[in-house]
Amino acid sequence: MIFKSLVELFCTKALLVMSAHFSYLQTMQESDLSWVFSVEQRAYDFPWSMKGFENSLEQGLNYLFYSIEGKALGYCCLLPVLDEAHILNVCVAPEYQGKGIARAALTAISDKLRERRFNIILLEVRESNMPARQLYRQFGFTEDGVRKGYYRSSLWDEALMELVDAREDAILMSYRLND
Ligand SMILES: CC(C)(COP(=O)(O)OP(=O)(O)OC[C@H]1O[C@@H](n2cnc3c(N)ncnc32)[C@H](O)[C@@H]1OP(=O)(O)O)[C@@H](O)C(=O)NCCC(=O)NCCS
Repeated sequence: MIFKSLVELFCTKALLVMSAHFSYLQTMQESDLSWVFSVEQRAYDFPWSMKGFENSLEQGLNYLFYSIEGKALGYCCLLPVLDEAHILNVCVAPEYQGKGIARAALTAISDKLRERRFNIILLEVRESNMPARQLYRQFGFTEDGVRKGYYRSSLWDEALMELVDAREDAILMSYRLND
């Protein structure tokens, strides 16, 4: 009996995770940072430090993505510079990736930026980050150039038989909000 209830509880939880869809944006608060930081560490090989998020809360526009049930799904940090909005970080929690959440959140973010009279979104993305490059391209961003060796990276050194520090190029992308 207890076993059956546990199985039912597990299945219901699994279904709730599976059915999470983006529904709305909310401004990120300091109290969200522990959740954001824990997702950041799971989602990136080179995650932001807590200080990075604290600086972004001071200077930027920062949003959390929520499902209709009020479950946090991901986040985005932007730095406004005149009429330009620089995306510094976009992330969907690994368990919710591949469900159209980033695409829907980008649509909601660009609507908000248009309302606030921004003209362009700019960002940098690692050359090797094909999911993100594909997301942005499909959304309508163009690839405008390369910033050589912009990111910290690591490579496997056969001779030393260990990972060694390396650098990776950034692809510069932009999206015009008023075309
Ligand atoms: C990149 C990221 C934000 C995408 O979020 P997501 O919610 O999984 O993306 P979506 O489900 O909305 O996918 C939208 C489009 O992105 C592309 N995409 C997403 N995941 C992909 C993958 N694993 N491989 C290739 N393309 C992918 C596809 O074009 C997809 O459209 P499609 O489903 O019609 O093919 C997510 O993978 C992530 O958080 N990664 C770790 C953090 C990161 O790298 N952020 C980007 C920093 S610049």
